[in-house]
Amino acid sequence: MRSIHVKSYAQLSFEAAKIIAAQIALKQDTVLGLATGSTPVGAYQQLAEWNQQGKLDFSQVRTFNLDEYRGLAGDHPQSYRYFMQKHLFSQINILPGNTHVPQGDCADASAECANYDSSILAAGGIDLQLLGIGHNGHIGFNEPSNCFVLPTHEVALTQRTLEANSRFFDAAEQQPRSALTMGIAPIMQAKRILLISQGSEKMPILEKALYGPVTPEVPASILQLHPNLTVIYNESDC
Ligand code: PGA
Repeated sequence: MRSIHVKSYAQLSFEAAKIIAAQIALKQDTVLGLATGSTPVGAYQQLAEWNQQGKLDFSQVRTFNLDEYRGLAGDHPQSYRYFMQKHLFSQINILPGNTHVPQGDCADASAECANYDSSILAAGGIDLQLLGIGHNGHIGFNEPSNCFVLPTHEVALTQRTLEANSRFFDAAEQQPRSALTMGIAPIMQAKRILLISQGSEKMPILEKALYGPVTPEVPASILQLHPNLTVIYNESDC
């Protein structure tokens, strides 16, 4: 594991963006695994800036996002597809057909999940997977449980996750209770993983994940077994 300690969110975003940009420079048709949430927003802004300045080309890049709320269509403002369009895809020269987010409003979730895994395999697997970490140790929406679920699957969200994300929904009834998430297999099969963690409140779970026992009760702990893991963390709240 390579660990990079930074002192601000701006620095975290810059370091993460540099690693992603270097990956694209090395392999123009890179397959990126992407994350939503507040942590990656700064890195996405930096990547978009470099793209707009002509320094970074996304024309051959393919992306697979980690997860999507079950039941939300891609044009729903709280869907992760919408988030990605807003914070990254609409800002860069990526081909729309090269971006993948699980389809939350599909009729058949198991078929959608199986297709998603097949598409990742057909793309040659993920070269670089970007991850945030949830307060409960989740990666994607792989929530704490008694086993690691390997394929992409539908998952019921835990109370902790529902609470953490309730700020985005006007009313509790509008908040989906389940999601489609990339499973542990496609994440761990990524050639390289970049985990980013922002703020003091994430430090206890980050330490548990990186130095505690490997257990599905802390899903991110599986990352200890990955041969090419980079962690960028800022323990301050600035
Ligand atoms: P955050 O979410 O970036 O909004 O903290 C991370 C996560 O839940 O995976």
